[in-house]
Amino acid sequence: MRGKYTWKQRRRLTDPIEEHVAFDDTETKIAISGHPLHAMMVAFPIALAFSVLAVDGMYWLTADEFWPRVALWASGVGFVMGVLAGIAGTVELLMVPGIRIRSASWTHFILAVMLLSVLGLNWGFRLNDPVEAVLPWGIMISALAALMTGITGWHGGKLVFDYQIGTKRPSGT
Ligand code: HEM
Repeated sequence: MRGKYTWKQRRRLTDPIEEHVAFDDTETKIAISGHPLHAMMVAFPIALAFSVLAVDGMYWLTADEFWPRVALWASGVGFVMGVLAGIAGTVELLMVPGIRIRSASWTHFILAVMLLSVLGLNWGFRLNDPVEAVLPWGIMISALAALMTGITGWHGGKLVFDYQIGTKRPSGT
């Protein structure tokens, strides 16, 4: 076997991290027909977090008490869907070697847990008196939640587009 490679080929420097086979094992395990459940579910907290900010703005402009009731429901459903999406993402993170081994995945996890705390705060803060809660604190928490949703969502996209996390590698690559 030794004769198969030249001395130069045998001595070729390799990056032990890049050579780690686990890096290539990125295929989703929590999926429906190969489509990651997490990616399907995150649309809900993302859309609802931005909606709550818009709805708080509508109350500020119109003083119509319909809007705080909408915000109460939107923030609650957004939080619950965010937690469910987070559970699907966490199981994926722990089960798939190519996701678990990348530091970027853990950065996304930390950003997401901070975001979920703010989404929970935004809902819990409104439970007693949804109308009183909006100005000034509710709308400020909504603005923070929307900003953090943007950052976490953008970072989640990077996982998929930069590292092909959750995707199937074409055979032969
Ligand atoms: C709490 C723990 C979370 C973990 C462990 C996690 C993990 C992951 C993983 C592993 C992926 C790659 C795709 C996949 O394999 O499913 C991903 C993608 C993504 N995540 Fe998370 N995530 C979490 C929470 C969130 C939350 C709360 C949001 C909401 C903003 C979010 C937004 C995204 C987005 C937008 C993508 C890209 C989806 C795509 O373009 O297909 N994640 N996340």
